[in-house]
Amino acid sequence: MLHIVALTKKGNGPRNCIGVTLTDSFVKTACSYLLTHYDWALDPPDQNTSYKWLPASRPAEPLHLSFTRLDQTGSCPTHPQ
Ligand code: HEM
Repeated sequence: MLHIVALTKKGNGPRNCIGVTLTDSFVKTACSYLLTHYDWALDPPDQNTSYKWLPASRPAEPLHLSFTRLDQTGSCPTHPQ
């Protein structure tokens, strides 16, 4: 399982990662695609959705999601059936 923090932590200070802007752009593009083309659901639905804030804002425990392609159900705005 890939945790979102693994995609966003790139260090701080004078030697921080030079790929920050590029990888942030990739993550936003991937999230945008998933939000546009898939229905997201907590799977199982009864998970702990509380937050913890340090050292980075994130769910208190890793969340498990399932994704259902919207164009397979006919409800995708960019792929109507
Ligand atoms: C998810 C993707 C990435 C992660 C998690 C990541 C993470 C990191 C981390 C933790 C550091 C050390 C920062 C520090 O010591 O404070 C670093 C340094 C660096 N990263 Fe990334 N990185 C990613 C993508 C990239 C990409 C796409 C590039 C190039 C296009 C890149 C180029 C570099 C370079 C050159 C350094 C060394 C900077 C220096 O020492 O002055 N990284 N990265």
